[in-house]
Amino acid sequence: MIENLMDKIVSLCKRRGFIFQGSEIYGGLANTWDYGPYGVELKNNLKRAWWKACVYERNDVFGMDAAILMHPRVWEASGHVENFFDLKSDCKNCKRRFKTEDLKDKSCCPECGGGLTESRPFNLMFKTHQGPVEDDANIIHIRPETAQGMFVNFSNILDSKHPRLPFGLAQIGKSFRNEITPGNFTFRTREFEQMEIEYFVKPPDAEKALQEWIQSRFDWYLSMGMKKENLRKRQHGKDELAHYAHACMDIEYNFPFGWSELEGIANRSDYDLKQHAQYSGKDLQYFDDATKERFYPYIIEPSGGVDRAALAFLIDAYHEEEVKGQTRVVLKLNKGLAPAKVAVLPLLRNRPEIVELAKKIAQDLKKSIITVYDDTGSIGKLYRRQDEVGTLYCVTIDVQTLEDKQVTVRERDSMLQERISIDKLKEFLTNKLS
Ligand code: GAP
Repeated sequence: MIENLMDKIVSLCKRRGFIFQGSEIYGGLANTWDYGPYGVELKNNLKRAWWKACVYERNDVFGMDAAILMHPRVWEASGHVENFFDLKSDCKNCKRRFKTEDLKDKSCCPECGGGLTESRPFNLMFKTHQGPVEDDANIIHIRPETAQGMFVNFSNILDSKHPRLPFGLAQIGKSFRNEITPGNFTFRTREFEQMEIEYFVKPPDAEKALQEWIQSRFDWYLSMGMKKENLRKRQHGKDELAHYAHACMDIEYNFPFGWSELEGIANRSDYDLKQHAQYSGKDLQYFDDATKERFYPYIIEPSGGVDRAALAFLIDAYHEEEVKGQTRVVLKLNKGLAPAKVAVLPLLRNRPEIVELAKKIAQDLKKSIITVYDDTGSIGKLYRRQDEVGTLYCVTIDVQTLEDKQVTVRERDSMLQERISIDKLKEFLTNKLS
């Protein structure tokens, strides 16, 4: 049943154009995924909602967008060259590679029963060469987190925005990790998008800020329609903390494969600014003009994954119900996340007057509401499609419309229908969607 739900989500994502296997026509590149027309809208809506809550609605967080490629010294200073690894074990027989912590029996291959090598560290950063010469002097890493781009710009922000503590930087962007065991669809991949905030505070204020961010991020998932029973907080044990973290709380989602991390909120202490000050030789201390003190701020970091959140919202919204002896599949995404808000559908696609009017209505709505037009099936099929992608309202144009200038508006979840006159339609939908 549990796998069944994941299978249903993967199948719906492909069937309806949310997520496809990467490079599929070449047999696929393992664990890469391409977002289709509805998937990209879902992700964009998610990122926009995060940016609105974390940047626009606050006075103390500024957005930025740093380069993916960074100076090699960044990853030495950050500790990633030395510490960012998983332990791996290789099967001597079938040559498969495993993350040691996932193995129940550390000496025996779970696939073929062959013997395993001793576990060895495996650095998760992707490496490449910058420029045309492929020698060791030109090796650079592809960022495994967006965070460092914000730390190395700390003094630029101080000099350009002159903020007082506490203040934060927010960034959304791709990160890359050469994960040993990617899997569970888009949950763990080697290329993924992160939404991260680095919030700089006076050291004595760190604990309070950490608790506030934990609650604020937890509440954000609820405000976006996620079911409360599928969310929980989990404190990291000392043995699982990242090399930079003093404390960390995960927000976990009840995925079909078990409770797993959606977002982590960490107290990174003054580790990052001190490290970058030491490695760059630049003074990255904050000067408090009230107390005349110079010090390294602590950093509170809420760090979430876009792909992981999109997957959780898809799972959370998936809903099946029996209607007239048939199974109706509905994605009950909230109105902020739903990829399309309105679909305009002609009841009879062989009646040019109806098709023409439907296209005109759709075109008019598109100016202010994300609207799709579809005339490639019977009305039953068209409704089914729109339910499966979570479209909030379907507007149907029928023979009667030609006479009374009214359309039928059907609400996704209740399936209730009402007749609305064409000249009131935009206002009606705008009110519903606002
Ligand atoms: N800067 C801190 C940091 O990167 P993390 O816990 O390693 O912390 C933060 O990652 C979030 O990024 C995770 O909670 C998850 O949502 C997402 N993430 C991390 N690795 C991922 C992967 N391999 N695939 C998809 N998402 C990932």
